[in-house]
Amino acid sequence: MFFYFIFEKNIFKMVQIVEATFDDRKKAYNWLFNSDFSDFLIKLEGYTRDTLPSYEDFTGEYWDFFFDGSQPENGRCYKIIDNQNNEEVGFIYYMSFHTKEGVAEIDAWLKSLEYTGKGIGPSAINKLVEKLNKEMGFHTFFIRPAKENTRAVNSYKKAGFKETELIPEKYYKPEFIEEYRKSGYGEGKDIFLVKTV
Ligand SMILES: CC(C)(COP(=O)(O)OP(=O)(O)OC[C@H]1O[C@@H](n2cnc3c(N)ncnc32)[C@H](O)[C@@H]1OP(=O)(O)O)[C@@H](O)C(=O)NCCC(=O)NCCS
Repeated sequence: MFFYFIFEKNIFKMVQIVEATFDDRKKAYNWLFNSDFSDFLIKLEGYTRDTLPSYEDFTGEYWDFFFDGSQPENGRCYKIIDNQNNEEVGFIYYMSFHTKEGVAEIDAWLKSLEYTGKGIGPSAINKLVEKLNKEMGFHTFFIRPAKENTRAVNSYKKAGFKETELIPEKYYKPEFIEEYRKSGYGEGKDIFLVKTV
């Protein structure tokens, strides 16, 4: 129990999250769509290399406010920094423009496969959860990975997220329910994971 506590504390100290800026947006795009895990991810989202979203498409979804901090009530993107060597190793962000008060959706991706499986994802997620809870009063967090993305599902469960039935009315603002009832991966192809603090 004691050793488990020490391990948990070390995992938590492993990374810090730092506000991303416009200078980081292209990098965020490249690490998502041009990394060594991207072919796997884009297939899950129904894209091929030929139909991949362009950087301009990306900026239409990863809006300015994620990178300039102008609408914290709607969301913000952060860089994940490995504390051991101060290296930027990934991105994490929350979105709340479409969710009910106190609820936020989270997503994350690392630079490449070599950084995965080391606890960086759960560490960054829990940093963000703690920050949003303390500073903005968010209490319910959800993530919707594709069922087939077992690495992501395992990681989010390790961060304390629990598989939960999606009742859209509980999580989404009424005007967004129809759009988000189904995930980006298609009907029944995602797992709805929730953490409350
Ligand atoms: C999802 C992601 C952020 C998780 O962060 P992470 O730091 O890799 O998380 P973890 O260190 O907890 O490792 C993931 C878990 O999956 C396991 N795993 C690793 N490779 C795996 C594979 N090919 N298949 C299944 N599970 C795998 C790991 O063993 C680990 O579990 P364990 O520690 O119990 O062994 C990161 O893996 C990532 O960036 N993946 C690519 C992008 C992505 O899929 N983003 C999520 C979109 S919803």
